[in-house]
Parts: sequence; structure tokens; C-alpha cells
Amino acid sequence: MNITLKNGIYGKANTKAHLFEKVRKSFKILLEKLHQILRFRRLCKMPEKTTVSVIKCDVGSLAGHHTVPKPLLDIGEKSLKKAQKSGLINSHYVFHAGDDLELLMVHEKGENNPEIHKLAWDTFLEATEKAKSLKLYGAGQDILRTAFSGNVRGMGPGVAEMEIEERGSDPFVVFAADKTEPGAFNYPMFKIFADPSNTAGLVIDPGMAGGFKFEVLDVMENKKVVLKCPEEMYDLIALIGTPGRYVVSHVWRARDDLICAATSTTKLSLIAGKYVGKDDPVSIVRAQYGLPALGEILVPFMHTYFVEGWMRGSHWGPLMPVGLKDSKCTAFDGPPRIVALGFQVSHGKIASDDSGDPLISDLFDDPAFDLARREAVEYAVALRRMGEFEPARLSAEIMEYTTLPKVLEKLKDKFVKAES
Ligand code: F6R
Ligand code: MG
Ligand code: MG
Repeated sequence: MNITLKNGIYGKANTKAHLFEKVRKSFKILLEKLHQILRFRRLCKMPEKTTVSVIKCDVGSLAGHHTVPKPLLDIGEKSLKKAQKSGLINSHYVFHAGDDLELLMVHEKGENNPEIHKLAWDTFLEATEKAKSLKLYGAGQDILRTAFSGNVRGMGPGVAEMEIEERGSDPFVVFAADKTEPGAFNYPMFKIFADPSNTAGLVIDPGMAGGFKFEVLDVMENKKVVLKCPEEMYDLIALIGTPGRYVVSHVWRARDDLICAATSTTKLSLIAGKYVGKDDPVSIVRAQYGLPALGEILVPFMHTYFVEGWMRGSHWGPLMPVGLKDSKCTAFDGPPRIVALGFQVSHGKIASDDSGDPLISDLFDDPAFDLARREAVEYAVALRRMGEFEPARLSAEIMEYTTLPKVLEKLKDKFVKAES
């Protein structure tokens, strides 16, 4: 049999080669088809990867440092609405914690995405311009750098982000606090993910067997360590009991490394080299089904507890859980306040109503937190009775990062040697 082969050689001798070539080609096609089927099946089964980003910035406040007025919130809303329309993000919610403008965005671009960070950065710049035009107070306070190069980290704004593979149903809580710092979340994070007297599930739910892993960042030295609870609980407390330096930045479920919490870790004073306001923090926490229940995440806030910050970032103050309507810092620029928003992440978005508005629950707008609010006011009054005497004022070491050293500087030459 004479067959023309690709290389133009004729003859019987080439029959074998032809047959081999035919089998090889059929085998290749078969393999390709198999790959296609596998790819398609994997695609069908592929879990949805969704990112929750909360990026915040103090761009200016009405009457001091206490709240974000409507024109600035409107700029946030307009900008994120446009981004949602263009398909860059899938859902958004704009709110404020005291004088911080908070942008909650849900999308599929992953963490540290330059487009998402640019969207937040441009929104903050536009809001700053508006704040300047109205001569609002502290316009552009947290805009510490000017040249944007793909990520807002280290430029002033605070960022908490979490990329997840969506579970069957994925409840979330976003916390945002004003007049305090990221270490303010250390205590509740410990309670939620490591303390069995707070979280019944640590004892009762086999889904939580094995405990949780905490990533702790040393914000002074920019080093981090992962500690697992319950085994390394005492070491964890040894670190995070100093919230001004050691900050819980992430929490994972130990048995499968499921991400459960992410907190902003900005240290503004370290970026600017001087006191520029506290690093008012945000945190994203995932709830239920083998993770702490929503109620276990909220129960640490039934009592107030003390955090660093408050007036001039220089005082201990009781953290007050409030609904969005009370998210403003008044008495002695406080007391430091925290809001909590509950929502569902669903198919790459925040589950929304029929008109597309995200379903958000204002979790601390609830009488269950009245006692904590009452305590916060009482403790605030007690601390203020002490004026500028420690422990009402922060320790000398932390005051180094405030405006106090400038005051002490002028006394330097007045000191004379004391007799021994
Ligand atoms: C704390 C804060 C305020 C200000 C205080 C003084 O984070 O923002 O307590 O430190 O109102 O502000 P200036 O120095 O701007 O007058
Ligand atoms: Mg401010
Ligand atoms: Mg603030």
C-alpha cells in the first residue's frame, strides 16, 4: 500500500510508521477530550472564591474628630456604586466609625488587588478634596503618602481583607472602631477563638475540635508568629496582653486552616514617624457551622473593656459598642466606640434585597449591649476624674509617640542635678 506521509516518503516500508502516527494522533485527541471533561467537571465543582475588603480612612470630620458628615459618605457611595456598575466590585456598603470613612467591598479580585486598592484610594482623595472645600476638620488626616503604587497599605488607610472559598452559607461580622488601635481586638479575638467560657462551641462542637491558630504581628519590629490554641494559649496571652505592640492579625481553624478572622494592622505613627491619630481598626470575622456562632462573636462586647486611644490617642478608655446612629465620638473625644455589621456572603456578593440593596444588620443597635454602654459611661467618668495621672493617661513609653515629648523638651534645660 502506497501512502503519502507528511514528509512525502512513499512505500510499504512506511505503513508501520503511518499506523503508529495514526494511533498516536488518536491517543492525543482522546487525552485532550479527557482533559476537557476533567476541566469541565472541576469547573462545575470549583468553590466560589470571594474577597471581602474593608478599607478605611480618616478624610476629615465635622466639628473636630467626631464624625463623617453626609457629603463625604455620599462621595463614598457614589464612587462604589459606579465601581459596582462597572463590574469591578459586586457589592458595597459605605458607613462610618466616628471620624473614619469605611468602605466595605465584596468582589472576586483577591486580596491586595491594585484595582480595588486604587478604587479606595481615589475615593478617599475625592472625599478629602470635598472635606477641604468645606474646611472640615483634619481634611485628609490619614493620607500620609501621595504617590499611589498599587496598594494602600503603608500609605495611611487601614485595610482588612479576607479571600474565602464560599461555604454553603457564609455569615460574616465586620467590626470597625474609632479612637483606638488594632490591638483593641486582641481581647475579643482571644475570647472568641480560644476561651471556652466565652465560646461554648470550643467545648461542645466537634467541628471546632483542634482549636484555632492565631497570627500575631509585632508592629514595632514588623515580625510575625503563629501560635496555636489551646496548646500555646499562655504564650499567646503573654504577647497579645500588650496590645500596643502585638496585634492578632489573622485567625485560622487549626484542623483545616480555614480563614476565620482578619484585622487591620496599620501603625500610623510608624509610617509618619510622629503622632498622627490612632490607627482606628477594622476586623472581619466569619461565623457559624464549625466556627464561633454569631452570638459567641458578640458576647465579649456585653461588657466594656479598656483600650488605648481616646483623647489625643493618649488615654485608656472603655470601648463602647454602639449602633450606627451613635457612631460618633463626643465626650473627651469618645469614649472609644465600636460598631458591628452582620451580613451573608453569597455568590460573590453581599446577600441583597430585591432592589439590590445589601442586607446589613446593625448588630450593636440592640438593648443586649445597654449594660456595656452604661458601664462604658461609668468607667469613662471614673477615669476622667484622674485627669492626666496614670493609669488614666497611657504609660510614658507609649506617650513617646504622642505630642508629649515636645512639651517635655522645653523643660530639659530647667533640670539641675539633684544631691545624692
Ligand atoms: C484621637 C483624635 C482626637 C485628637 C484631638 C486633638 O485619635 O483624633 O482625640 O487627637 O481632638 O486634635 P487636634 O490636635 O487636631 O486639635
Ligand atoms: Mg480625625
Ligand atoms: Mg478616627
